[in-house]
Amino acid sequence: MCGIIGKIGKVNCMKDVLEGLKKLEYRGYDSAGVAVFTDEGVKRVRAVGNISALEEKLAGTDLDGRLAVGHSRWATNGNVTEKNAHPHRAGRFTVVHNGIIENAAALKTAYFENDAFESDTDTEVAAKLLDKFYDGDVGRAIRQTQRLLTGSWALGILCDDCPDTLFAAANGSPLLVVKTESGCYIASDAGAVPDAVEVTKVENREYAAVTAGGYTIFNENGDALQKAPLAAAAGALSLDKGGYDHYMMSEIMQQPEAVRRTIEALPDGDLLGGAKEIRLIACGSAYHAGLVGARLFEAVRRIPARAEIASEFRYADPIIGRDTLCIFISQSGETADTLAALRLAKEKGAPTLSIVNVPGSAIATESDRVILTQAGREIAVATTKAYSAQLAVFYALALGKTEALGRLPEAIYTAIAENDGKCRRLAERIAGCRNIFFIGRQLDNAVSQEGSLKMKEISYLNSQAYAAGELKHGTISLVEPGSPVIATVTDPAILSKTMSNLHEVKARGAFTVVITTRALAPGLEADVTLTVPDVGPLLAPSVAVIPMQLMSYYTAKALGCEIDKPRNLAKSVTVE
Ligand code: F6R
Repeated sequence: MCGIIGKIGKVNCMKDVLEGLKKLEYRGYDSAGVAVFTDEGVKRVRAVGNISALEEKLAGTDLDGRLAVGHSRWATNGNVTEKNAHPHRAGRFTVVHNGIIENAAALKTAYFENDAFESDTDTEVAAKLLDKFYDGDVGRAIRQTQRLLTGSWALGILCDDCPDTLFAAANGSPLLVVKTESGCYIASDAGAVPDAVEVTKVENREYAAVTAGGYTIFNENGDALQKAPLAAAAGALSLDKGGYDHYMMSEIMQQPEAVRRTIEALPDGDLLGGAKEIRLIACGSAYHAGLVGARLFEAVRRIPARAEIASEFRYADPIIGRDTLCIFISQSGETADTLAALRLAKEKGAPTLSIVNVPGSAIATESDRVILTQAGREIAVATTKAYSAQLAVFYALALGKTEALGRLPEAIYTAIAENDGKCRRLAERIAGCRNIFFIGRQLDNAVSQEGSLKMKEISYLNSQAYAAGELKHGTISLVEPGSPVIATVTDPAILSKTMSNLHEVKARGAFTVVITTRALAPGLEADVTLTVPDVGPLLAPSVAVIPMQLMSYYTAKALGCEIDKPRNLAKSVTVE
């Protein structure tokens, strides 16, 4: 979480830094700030809120220069206030930071017991260390500071004595150096930089000295490294809103293409490597994709499989070893808990496979094998196309690249086209409710978990998903007259069971919605029926999730919510 960017250019570069910050806002939007090298030294401007709040503050100034850094914050240490917004300054140093310095409190006591601090952040401690160790050699100050720090950081560093160099250092948080025709950047994500000519990753405990014409990356001993630039990411899917009001809608629409590309790029052959048992470990929506994967591996391959929440797995002392394939699922490839779970699995000798959307990310790099989903850059905080691409990987792993799988992108397209209008109308009805329930059994339950998360994260309505048979064991007491209950029924073998549960809530006044296939729809009783193409029960989650995404989107829109940047959330969660 938090996004950092910096540019040292051939001409003034504040505009480019602000443009880049907007592209990084998905990483946090509690506050934003910039610092720029001017003829009168380094000046900074910070604002609580998103980049537009910062732009408003900058509007009356002509602050600009050839070297600038910017930051968008997702608060970890210290409240959301201007004094805690980055950049932070100490002595001759100005710093932007993504990550958490875990031993900041101990370092404060050890080195700065009697010092006054401007902010409550861990970042200021790093800035003060740099200043403390600085003796005219910034590289040495960075090395000494990095030696003391524990935790994660991507730091952009300005030194008052060096108007021609932008410094950067990293450990555990993503940091790229990007060369362009108009100068060089540092950034948390290459997507924030237009027209990259060359992209190089600053790896753990390395640091970089960047000038307008090039850059050098050093190891922790100060030796200059010859590093191979990253391969350019294969043809990214659209990076703009594609004419829609929000990235989320644009990304919903990109799902057929994301799934098609993902299936096409998958290597042939059995990637499960003869596993006797499978664990699927992830957080949030990626965990929900894992629920589908686990069900498929058991149902189709008869391999015992279970999905686990990464933050639980890592503290459970899991019983795993070389016969347990551990699969880590992550859009960003950065999620702290998933990464820690991966490291634990490796320590315990389990083979690891990751399913990741961002090439070169920590999870992709550290796992034994990696499958890259081809969803392209996802900007809306609520995932849609990355989740769909993850499901496609599980189908291919469990079933192989079947003809039915080849037809899935077309079916997803139809599901979008046929449900868009209906979901928009339905959202008007849902927006006025307090509680919403999603129910289903087996795979329908797995996909309902995702539908419910989508609804709550962007509309802020209280939405819960339950195994259909479980509702009557307590939760049904929350169902009031008019409460929407959304049942997913795509498997004829268990259809009547879930429908009985839907009738039970109908008898208590619920407003019932059923998501089902065209073939199963006739004869199902509900207030509203949403149909999706018949792709068979195993592939059904991929089409059933579509009306759930659309319903969530239009409900949030009807309620006037910030759809792409829901409150309190960030796209990549690099804290525990
Ligand atoms: C919800 C959502 C989150 C992420 C979760 C894991 O829409 O996007 O729940 O799925 O934070 O993130 P990644 O996949 O980056 O590890």
